[in-house]
Amino acid sequence: MPAIPHRAAFARPAAWAVTALLAAAPAAAQDANALYTRALAATCANCHGTSGRPIDGSEVPGLAGMPAAYMIAQMQAFKKGERPATVMHQLAKGYTDEQIQQIAAYFAAQKK
Ligand code: HEC
Repeated sequence: MPAIPHRAAFARPAAWAVTALLAAAPAAAQDANALYTRALAATCANCHGTSGRPIDGSEVPGLAGMPAAYMIAQMQAFKKGERPATVMHQLAKGYTDEQIQQIAAYFAAQKK
């Protein structure tokens, strides 16, 4: 009979550990997703500037604060060849629709 209280005493901390791990998992997944989105958006920085803010006098349009729906529409138009471009029609083909949505949401949230 003394085995039962002992087992219960061990089981409780283990249960807390599992609960703590389960609670931490969604946060870690969110961090990974945020990092992934930033990495995607960083592929635009060479031309559109860090965080989508081009340097003064740049002819490349800024992306920071661009409404997501507008960006998605432009990226799709570039992808399909409906909007003529020098580089974007090629670049846009390298991103899935889901990635474009993620990138658009990221830049829409940046201050101009
Ligand atoms: C190699 C340089 C380069 C890179 C990298 C680049 N762009 Fe562009 N982007 C341009 C240029 C130049 C234009 C003007 C259209 C053209 O000539 O292609 C443009 C135009 C755009 C426009 C249209 C803006 C408007 O006001 O209508 C959007 C949207 C856009 N880019 C989004 C992106 C996104 C999102 C990325 C990253 C996934 C990206 N670009 C990466 C050079 C670049």
